[in-house]
Amino acid sequence: MLPPANTGLGFLDAVSDAEILLYADPTDANNDGISGVPNYVSLKSYVVERSNSITQNGKYIARFGKKASTYNLLQQTAQAYNQILALLLPMKIKTLTQAPFQIRGLHQTVADVVFYLKTLKAPIPRIETTEILSGSKLFANVGCDKCHRPEMKTGVTEIAALSNKTFFSIQRFVASRYGTRSG
Ligand code: HEC
Repeated sequence: MLPPANTGLGFLDAVSDAEILLYADPTDANNDGISGVPNYVSLKSYVVERSNSITQNGKYIARFGKKASTYNLLQQTAQAYNQILALLLPMKIKTLTQAPFQIRGLHQTVADVVFYLKTLKAPIPRIETTEILSGSKLFANVGCDKCHRPEMKTGVTEIAALSNKTFFSIQRFVASRYGTRSG
């Protein structure tokens, strides 16, 4: 089992649906060989929709988990509690998906974990060398950054520090540090 990194997710959670749709290209109209298709899902009862959601037939754009199957960090975390921790711990944890809960199904423990994940900063490169710069250029030249976006913007969210922010991939960070822009 290889879990992905858990840092910097608050920005991704705060990206607006409109921003995500900017990168959708289901028919590969720009001919780069990549067809991004948003995954629309039904909203779980305990999930509160983000502001300015863009829906399709009553379904919402998901962004976390395998094949972008979960709507936000709350759902991802709640499912982790219910599905993964239930396997690891001797006693099955009953947190969400069972009504009634204090705030629209939001159990405080899960809310605290979600807040922690949202505010955990992405790391900056530990070292800065010319190898890193050349690797970063290759990353863009090969087309990795067509999916691993160099930068994105967040919309309005309840954590002010995460609202209306442009954030960058490490690749873009390195490029800007060396005065080279790529991607
Ligand atoms: C067509 C879109 C696309 C392109 C192009 C692409 N990736 Fe990815 N990459 C993904 C997706 C989606 C994931 C996450 C897969 C998952 O979590 O199951 C991923 C995951 C990764 C991961 C693992 C990250 C982690 O936290 O586990 C690495 C490393 C990576 N890609 C590197 C690259 C490199 C290097 C290139 C260019 C040679 C590249 N990718 C090109 C879509 C792409």
